[in-house]
Amino acid sequence: MSIQIAPSILSADFANLERDLKAIANADMVHVDVMDHHFVPNLTLGEPVVERICQVTDLPVDVHLMIEDPDRWAPEFATLGVASVTFHTGAVHAPVRLARQLHDMGVKACLAVRPAEPVEPIFDILDEFDMILVMTVEPGFGGQKFLDNQMPKTRRLRDQITARGLKTHIQVDGGVSPTTAPIVAEAGADVLVAGSAVYGADDPAKAIDQIRQAAQV
Ligand code: DX5
Ligand code: ZN
Repeated sequence: MSIQIAPSILSADFANLERDLKAIANADMVHVDVMDHHFVPNLTLGEPVVERICQVTDLPVDVHLMIEDPDRWAPEFATLGVASVTFHTGAVHAPVRLARQLHDMGVKACLAVRPAEPVEPIFDILDEFDMILVMTVEPGFGGQKFLDNQMPKTRRLRDQITARGLKTHIQVDGGVSPTTAPIVAEAGADVLVAGSAVYGADDPAKAIDQIRQAAQV
């Protein structure tokens, strides 16, 4: 399976975002974490910053909404030049309607599950999504420890996708590094988000290559 690496700018220097976006030019997309102080106990950035990020990077922008009421706000983010919008099962009211609305706007739709949420309840609507995000930490902060107990869930999801001949990507987010990359790839994930492992490294581009290399299992 071809592996894609999505550095999370949550661990970048917010006062030097353009520089830090240029430092990850060898990535496959850039992952932007939007938090609202309600769905998660942290607050990051909103529409004006996402819009500028889209203008200064050549990479597809993957927005991860950790916010309440994505039914209302996700379409706003879809107008900013992003490639994909992810919203959480625990926050959305009408996931299928929202996914279709995003698709109509020319943006990919992704659905995220937190560590305590099972994937089986979303099996029936898998074909509505381009990607499922399996959180491998509780959402809210970078630099947390990878939860390997999310791997059986990831494997069940991959088996379901394969059995039905779907093209759905599986993204993992949280604690991904050259050490954990082989574990998530083995479980069937193909889009790897990494924040601290990329921006905490002396050379972010080299760290991306190392994660990509480690995921070739
Ligand atoms: C956490 C965010 C992640 C975060 C990952 O809620 O969704 O994208 O940046 O950071 P690391 O890779 O450091 O665990
Ligand atoms: Zn994220």
